[in-house]
Amino acid sequence: MKTLQLAAGTPLPVLGLGTWRLGEDRALRRTEVAAVRAAIEMGYRLIDTAEMYGEGGAEEVVGQAIAEALRAGDVKREELFIVSKVYPHNASRKGTPAACARSLARLELEQIDLYLLHWRGEHPLAETCEAMRKLAADGRIGHWGVSNLDTDDMEELATVCGEPLDCAANQVYYSVGERGPEFSLLPWQRDRGMPLMAYSPIDQGALAGDAALKKMAQRLGVTAAQLALAWVIAQPGVVAIPKAMREAHLRENLAAADLQLSADDLAEIDRLHLPPRRKTPLVMI
Ligand SMILES: NC(=O)c1ccc[n+]([C@@H]2O[C@H](COP(=O)([O-])OP(=O)(O)OC[C@H]3O[C@@H](n4cnc5c(N)ncnc54)[C@H](OP(=O)(O)O)[C@@H]3O)[C@@H](O)[C@H]2O)c1
Repeated sequence: MKTLQLAAGTPLPVLGLGTWRLGEDRALRRTEVAAVRAAIEMGYRLIDTAEMYGEGGAEEVVGQAIAEALRAGDVKREELFIVSKVYPHNASRKGTPAACARSLARLELEQIDLYLLHWRGEHPLAETCEAMRKLAADGRIGHWGVSNLDTDDMEELATVCGEPLDCAANQVYYSVGERGPEFSLLPWQRDRGMPLMAYSPIDQGALAGDAALKKMAQRLGVTAAQLALAWVIAQPGVVAIPKAMREAHLRENLAAADLQLSADDLAEIDRLHLPPRRKTPLVMI
């Protein structure tokens, strides 16, 4: 799989697995662990989760799947890139390391590769930044970053954290159907070599049924979901983290990482889903 590089030089796969809505129902636990395990076997190396998902349940699912995959020898720990997120209400100087310790325990890991502030909340960014840097210095996290921060928030982050800004990534809603970040946020991040992680890249499944995309996809011999994913990762500096539990979806999405869209294909998508002409507030799901 193609990778981008975090500013620190660490490779980041262009396509990973999302895990929102996992870990909410104990009765589904085995099925969900099996799906994440199957994803690892297929070749997914980047997994995105959060303490919020299933109130820790998704991290447990991911942790169990990783533990099983490591035991079976399907993958080595250093080949995986695990992302988790701290709730804004926990993102204080003391709360951040405590939340991180709970996440590490649920994930059964020594280190989270990328730890994100899930969205801006009541604690000053400067405090979160200080706590994140301490966690990185202590080796509990490999890198830190943010999520759902718009361009002005990123400017503020750079001011309060001080330059050089070591925030490794910003995870936001970005898809063929929601192109707002292209106006100023994505260029801002590109200037700093800071990848944008696109969440809900299939618009929570809706783009798979988009009539215009379906028509174009059919002509190219792919599915609309694959076209939507291939478009997202064709944008320089962007990685996508589609969530899928069904095996067919997992395989389909992984294969999208190898699709090459031509300049004509990209121009056609621009006509179907127009790029932004002005700044609009970041949309949060
Ligand atoms: N930072 C944040 O605030 C934030 C917010 C939202 C999401 N996220 C992260 O981003 C991840 C992805 O976003 P998302 O879960 O909101 O939406 P998404 O990935 O755009 O869509 C997921 C939905 O699409 C379906 N799907 C997946 N592949 C498909 C395919 N090839 N064809 C047809 N349907 C397909 C899935 O079904 P099945 O599961 O049944 O296969 C699921 O219902 C999340 O899971 C989470 O990790 C982060």
